[in-house]
Amino acid sequence: MNYNKKSIEDVSVAGKRVLCRCDFNVPTKAGVITSDKRIVAALPTIEYLMDHGAKVILCSHMGKPKGEWKPELSLKVVAQRLSELLGKPVIMAADVVGEDAKAKAAALKDGEVMLLENLRYMKGETKNDPEFAKELASMADLFVNDAFGTAHRAHASTAGVADYLPAVSGYLVQKEVSIMGKALADPERPFVAILGGAKVSDKLNVINNLLEKVDTLIIGGGMAYTFLAAKGCGVGKSLLDEEKIDYCKDMMAKAEAKGVKLLLPIDTVVADAFPDPIDGPVEVETVDSDAIPADKMGLDIGEKTRALFAGAAKAAKTVVWNGPMGVFENPTLAKGTIAVAQGLADSDAVTIVGGGDSTAACEQLGFADKITHISTGGGASLEFLEGLELPGIACLEDK
Ligand code: 3PG
Repeated sequence: MNYNKKSIEDVSVAGKRVLCRCDFNVPTKAGVITSDKRIVAALPTIEYLMDHGAKVILCSHMGKPKGEWKPELSLKVVAQRLSELLGKPVIMAADVVGEDAKAKAAALKDGEVMLLENLRYMKGETKNDPEFAKELASMADLFVNDAFGTAHRAHASTAGVADYLPAVSGYLVQKEVSIMGKALADPERPFVAILGGAKVSDKLNVINNLLEKVDTLIIGGGMAYTFLAAKGCGVGKSLLDEEKIDYCKDMMAKAEAKGVKLLLPIDTVVADAFPDPIDGPVEVETVDSDAIPADKMGLDIGEKTRALFAGAAKAAKTVVWNGPMGVFENPTLAKGTIAVAQGLADSDAVTIVGGGDSTAACEQLGFADKITHISTGGGASLEFLEGLELPGIACLEDK
């Protein structure tokens, strides 16, 4: 895939109506934004466009309203937060491509900014309906994609509009693509990837692709048990993706053939059952990973493994981490994930983190500023690691 795409600095934006796709799909609780990270990450592009005299029409999805007008998924809260961050008014449209949005877009003055309502209120958005894409595009002279978190979706606002408007990237897309693109194409070595999360099946292609690139691949979290089972270890009541045991065997053989070090947990924190509630009290003990009792369930990596994984991160020159090492929501079972976050924070390597739980671990621990790059993409950063072409980037003009 060609990542050498035109950016906002390669075109003239002054006096133009610019449709700028952001990923404002932020978490909310009872109508209040609980993390504004994605809004903050979009500021450099928005400020550049405003400062350079563009008439800025922002758009985003929030949640999955599936073509229905769900008031709880309105982007009004985003407009309010964005306005606070910019220190300037953000005009909120009452619809997406309706009368109100079109009138407000037409009345915009140079340097002003407006936000359309949730794109997914319209059925045509996720279907990448050309009619809807055309209508969105009709409000603008230029399309800027700065929604890295949604770049893996071929939707009307992420890819379709590029059929009707000149299309360039914003600073966030540029930053994500250049840092992760360099790590994958031309990494400083040793290059270590740390993968966690529940299921092997979620990361099949990521594992396969990373084995082509890394010096060391570390597998933790729920998916490690299927690898341990593939090695012939009993895993008790731990999460097991039985259908993927052969796949794990193939990946272990591939690692060996390529001279890639594949690290699995050597000890495991086990309990009788999954904690209920998830953050409730749980009685645990630590056992060797090849001796998990039949009536126990592995829920985090043990102390020896934490030192092994964090040590590998510290000794690396490039580290990519995606996915928790254990049941991170539970304080007793979060220690493995915390140790890996600490390992990255202590490392001099280029460190790149993607995925909700690993990102949350770095942020909650106050390590975020010690990480080179925390991706704003969950699914998008995974597909990037898979080596897939992201439609929201492929549709932009080449340099
Ligand atoms: C995300 O949160 O990963 C992006 O905003 C994409 O959202 P989606 O999975 O609903 O397409």
